[in-house]
Amino acid sequence: MTYRFIKDFLQEGKPDKLEIKNLPYKVGDLDPAISENTINYHYGKLAKTYAERYNKGEGDLKFNEAGVFLHNILFQQYQAPIGTNKPKGKIAEFIDKHYESFDKFKEEFEKTAMGIQGSGWVYLAKDGKIKTITNHEIKKDIVVLVDWWEHAWALDYQADKKKYLNNQWKIINWEHINESSTI
Ligand SMILES: [Fe+2]
Repeated sequence: MTYRFIKDFLQEGKPDKLEIKNLPYKVGDLDPAISENTINYHYGKLAKTYAERYNKGEGDLKFNEAGVFLHNILFQQYQAPIGTNKPKGKIAEFIDKHYESFDKFKEEFEKTAMGIQGSGWVYLAKDGKIKTITNHEIKKDIVVLVDWWEHAWALDYQADKKKYLNNQWKIINWEHINESSTI
């Protein structure tokens, strides 16, 4: 019995090979919301390492699989910063229905995010709630996702996580959210 076979047997239903999707923009395009340095590290190195480790059967497979899953959502939902960026179409209606306005939604999102202790994620879920993820976990109800791990903000924002979050709203590609989500 090969190691790969044993691994697949134990991890029934798990994919054999994972990869981080290509960026739909250039590495420097998100600057200054996310610098080229951060993208090079976060996307180019860290996220790809989760896939490499999973593919080699190294470390915690569940953790690495979820890391690939989450970063594949994260990096696909961005676009170059727009100062006046705001939700449009069905996601705008969805946010207004659950939070009255985009501003109120952002307030609630910030409150939840700032309450996270340690490494994690915060996201708008398909049921309209704002939810958190500790470390990494595969969730099938993600509509909009923000990475709250230190590696996502520390290089560009030091400790100013509120500013990091505020700038996230400038780079969310709401058209992509509308196309990729089943809300
Ligand atoms: Fe991350």
